Amino acid sequence: MRLPETTPLEVEEKDAAFVLGTYARAPFHPRKGKGAKLWDAEGKEYWDLLGGIAVSALGHAHPRLVRALKEAAGGLLHTSNLYHQPGQALLAERLVTASGLSKAFFCNSGTEAMEAALKFARLATPGRWGVVALEEGFHGRTMGAVSITGHEAYRTPFDPMVPGASFVPPNDVPALRSAVAAAVSAASGLSAIVLEPVLGEGGVIPLTKDFVLAAREEADRAGAVLVLDEIQCGLGRTGSLFAFQALGVVPDMVTLAKPLGGGLPLGALLVGERIVPLVKPGMHGTTFGGNPVACRLGLEFLCEIEEKGLVARVAATGVWFGRLLRNLKRRCPAVVDVRGSGLIWGIELDREAKPVVTALRERGFVVGTSREKVIRLLPPFVTPKPALASFAAALEAILKEEQK
Ligand SMILES: Cc1ncc(COP(=O)(O)O)c(C=O)c1O
Repeated sequence: MRLPETTPLEVEEKDAAFVLGTYARAPFHPRKGKGAKLWDAEGKEYWDLLGGIAVSALGHAHPRLVRALKEAAGGLLHTSNLYHQPGQALLAERLVTASGLSKAFFCNSGTEAMEAALKFARLATPGRWGVVALEEGFHGRTMGAVSITGHEAYRTPFDPMVPGASFVPPNDVPALRSAVAAAVSAASGLSAIVLEPVLGEGGVIPLTKDFVLAAREEADRAGAVLVLDEIQCGLGRTGSLFAFQALGVVPDMVTLAKPLGGGLPLGALLVGERIVPLVKPGMHGTTFGGNPVACRLGLEFLCEIEEKGLVARVAATGVWFGRLLRNLKRRCPAVVDVRGSGLIWGIELDREAKPVVTALRERGFVVGTSREKVIRLLPPFVTPKPALASFAAALEAILKEEQK
């Protein structure tokens, strides 16, 4: 069966009538993609500088992924985790070898990886349930993950939360130390410290080395575990394969998702030696997690970024692009700050970002927001420099036009 031809208006009407309103969708209808480009239903071309919120790291319709997908779909689409799966074992080997952690658990999404981390943290710290996390940190929408998400609007409609969470401002070492001390002396004790090395939803805020090292030290002193959420910033995006590799720490657990399945839903939790012996068969699981097709794409994704040296390219592009954005900030008073590395960038404005995002889309650039005033960029690793330069020129023109 082919999907029936639908106009954008028909899609919007059906969406309004039948899809539950959890999203405030933009009036944008992407229908085709190639590399870092997208085309909408009218055939208009765009640079995709949001990459499906960090998922499409190899861009759209990558020939290697398309080939592998067709091949894998002709084999087994699903067998369950009751039986062995070669793709899952090979992907686990690759992730474990590259990270230096000990084992991988596979699931389908970021929030599930975080749930697994919270459950395994409790195994490592029996009788304790306290978690210190970050104000404006984001970890997902399921009950455990949302309970440690540091933005009230995500939590309050669903109160009461899973107990034990406290929040500290990013990069505030004294606040971190006192939140840990408070948790340790509370009834909850301290089970875990959970950090995003770069807060993606929270304004694109990179954590400092000092802060992450202090978190490692505090977790060790309290006998708690350190969990790093690399769902958005991991797998090459910051310019190193794992963001923690540039921070000089080794976490007890790392959560991954977004680009891992090459566009298919796939999440993973990597765990260190402390966790491995605690997890026994039957304690945790998921029907679809580590699906054979998603794992095959995950392997292709990791092989491609290694063979093509894409992580080094992301790092170099980030150095060049950061300079370009800082120059833009110097010329443009509407730009308050620019933050990021590799191909994760936030451009903080002195105004609401949404109208600027709409104006950019009209000029052929798809970008996102993070908090109210930050434009967020998560472009595919294959985005050419001229696309990023023309984005910066378009942004400058829009901001200067608004100033008039
Ligand atoms: C840092 C971080 N953690 C967790 C999640 C949740 O991932 P998912 O939407 O796949 O459940 C996200 C999603 O944006 C994220 O950016």
